[in-house]
Amino acid sequence: MEPRDRLIFPLDVPDADQARRYIDLLQGEVGLFKVGLELFVATGPQILQSLSAAMGVGFFLDLKFHDIPATMQAALQNLFAGVKFTTIHCEQGKGLQGATAAARAQGIQVLGVTVLTSLNTADLLAGGIDPQYADPPVRLVLRRAALAQAAGCAGVVCAATEACAVKEQFGPDFLVVCPGIRPEWAAVPGDDQKRILTPYQALREGADYIVVGRPIRQAADPVAAARRVVAEIAAARA
Ligand code: C5P
Repeated sequence: MEPRDRLIFPLDVPDADQARRYIDLLQGEVGLFKVGLELFVATGPQILQSLSAAMGVGFFLDLKFHDIPATMQAALQNLFAGVKFTTIHCEQGKGLQGATAAARAQGIQVLGVTVLTSLNTADLLAGGIDPQYADPPVRLVLRRAALAQAAGCAGVVCAATEACAVKEQFGPDFLVVCPGIRPEWAAVPGDDQKRILTPYQALREGADYIVVGRPIRQAADPVAAARRVVAEIAAARA
């Protein structure tokens, strides 16, 4: 894998034209594009298929599915061409094995969402999570990673602050994908991300892939920013 293959750029934009602009700009600079709720709701799956052809290598469909096992399985059975990764909430553990198998049968890797990077201990306590798991959040991340593994996920999404603990407990092949990445040189005004590390730190902690959105998208020169992130990835893996 080249350093840039580890960089995932989220197409967090409101329409297909803007998505296409970023695909043209960052094609060859990042490893994978991620389509989340914002673009999916705006465009629907049909337009995504034509965007997927433009991306060339397929994309990450980050819809964070959460429903009863039968509905999850039916939804994941109907994913479309071009999807390489998708995400689910997996508190139902083993009950989701059918759903993850349906995705795998189409060559799609499913990742379990553990604890959103916008949440800190205080948020988890406010949400009713037992202090034993919320403080620090890594305890809840490890518990949910175990459920993701039982569900048949290929790995998890977590903060880079927890990547090392996940790798230690679940081994090197269990994928760790980390959003909440903030380079030292990029401030995000009004940032909602709370459990953050730099690209360099995230890779040192064991992240397989990092998701970097606003520090690239809001940069004066997004290509230069993407290259700076890739340079940090390369330095961390050297
Ligand atoms: O770098 P930035 O904060 O802009 O990237 C945010 C992206 O990462 C969004 O697409 C968001 O959905 C995604 N994400 C996240 N936290 C998670 C899972 C995904 O921020 N736990």
